Amino acid sequence: MTTHDGDRTGTHGVDWDARAASFDEEPDHGLRDPGVRAAWAGRLRTWLPGPPGDVLDLGCGTGSLALLAAEQGHRVTGIDRSPAMVALAREKLAGRDAVFLVGDAAAPPIGAARFDAVLVRHVLWTLPEPARVLRHWRGLLRPGGRLVLVEGVWGTVSPVGIPADLLTALLAPLAREVRLERLSQDAALWGGDVRDERYAVVAVPD
Ligand SMILES: C[S@@+](CC[C@H](N)C(=O)[O-])C[C@H]1O[C@@H](n2cnc3c(N)ncnc32)[C@H](O)[C@@H]1O
Repeated sequence: MTTHDGDRTGTHGVDWDARAASFDEEPDHGLRDPGVRAAWAGRLRTWLPGPPGDVLDLGCGTGSLALLAAEQGHRVTGIDRSPAMVALAREKLAGRDAVFLVGDAAAPPIGAARFDAVLVRHVLWTLPEPARVLRHWRGLLRPGGRLVLVEGVWGTVSPVGIPADLLTALLAPLAREVRLERLSQDAALWGGDVRDERYAVVAVPD
């Protein structure tokens, strides 16, 4: 994930439609390198429920994680506000048990559907009112479901993102179990060494 200083539009000045065509060029976005892909697949397997279930991927981008989840047997619903991202995700998962919709991750257009996991990578940091959004996402889970949140703080000059201690504090009142996994030291995930904060949190509500 690159930093986004100097972008043009959106909550944090990011025009995601404009970024869609080149988004997968970043190693951790497109997961084109077999080593990077295997690293994410291995982590995802430990974060998602063991038996295949229904996974809601919010801010799914081009569908790279959605594809890994589908390859692991999960049924995936992906939501993204950017029509260009959704078009690429549909293409990437053509023929798979997956649907992609244009919509707001903060209020996904899923009706009464409920999920075994809500998966969100590198998106919460862009949303206003994260505490309210996390409460909403918790309500989208079936009993026994979990939130899988992959976030970080990117850049050094004007860093953007959510520090792990803030996210775990927001989750504490919502979940009986909050497991934090630090990811910065695992270069295989990023296609090289990184020095900023990267992590995943798996939260199981009460
Ligand atoms: C950094 S990308 C991450 C994409 C994907 N989750 C991944 O890890 O490869 C952020 C994505 O969130 C989407 N996004 C940003 N704000 C959103 C919102 N309010 N609702 C839905 N999608 C949003 C953007 O369009 C973009 O595809």
